[in-house]
Amino acid sequence: MSEIMLMCTPEWFTVNYEINPWMKNQTGRVSHELARQQWQALYDTLCSVAEIRLMRGAPSWPDLVFTANVGLPLAAEKKIILSNFRHPERQGEKAINRSWFEDQGWRCIDLPDGVIFEGAGDALFDDAGRLWTGSGPRSDETALMHLARHIDAPIFRLALTDPRFYHLDTCFCPLPDGYALYLPLAFDEASRALLERSFEGKLISLTPEEGDQFCANAVCAGSVIVMNQSTPRLDKLLADIGFSVIETAMSEFMKSGGSAKCLTLSLQGWAKQ
Ligand code: ARG
Repeated sequence: MSEIMLMCTPEWFTVNYEINPWMKNQTGRVSHELARQQWQALYDTLCSVAEIRLMRGAPSWPDLVFTANVGLPLAAEKKIILSNFRHPERQGEKAINRSWFEDQGWRCIDLPDGVIFEGAGDALFDDAGRLWTGSGPRSDETALMHLARHIDAPIFRLALTDPRFYHLDTCFCPLPDGYALYLPLAFDEASRALLERSFEGKLISLTPEEGDQFCANAVCAGSVIVMNQSTPRLDKLLADIGFSVIETAMSEFMKSGGSAKCLTLSLQGWAKQ
């Protein structure tokens, strides 16, 4: 088992504010029992393909459960670039994230105040070691040059244009062997062209329906891809290139605009390369 991931327990997860379109009118609508069961099912599934580290949830910070937004781990050097959250509703998570990583012996790197960056939600390494960053709704374009000071890898910028796909990990998912899933409608034309060029025939376009089901918000461990819900079309496409899909329902977390991938943070990231 080579993957190591961080998850956060869901006891304080709820929707009680609106900072993305999925959260509109969802206040009070989360079933906490179902959320707990869905989180547990994801955890159990991932335990069979990865080693999972846990952080505890905290009152007042319902979105802490989405560990993808903790920051961007650079595991080879045991350091993490911590997120500076866009919305005040999440800004208090930073101190909690810092103390978890410091306790585990990681060095925490701060971007300058005012440079907004939401971690692995908006920054994903592919298996060729390139870093893909999403900017627009949540992370600033200017974060890129700050990231570049700490990361010795080619960094590319993708412009996110659809408010419903506000983090890069909601619409793009690099896979092993040079493949990637992506949702074309979430990007501007230049970003689509850049992806098409860079993944040379190995870029799998998702349909709008698959986008809505959060198919791009998938966790990949080896040849297994874990996601909320697939489609027969996508299952077949992925099976043909050697991947198998495990579905695990994420309805309660989708009310918050998150799904399987958002609930995890790869602690190897870049070290994998
Ligand atoms: N409610 C959270 C927010 O709007 C969901 C975060 C989802 N995380 C992600 N990496 N896409 O910030």
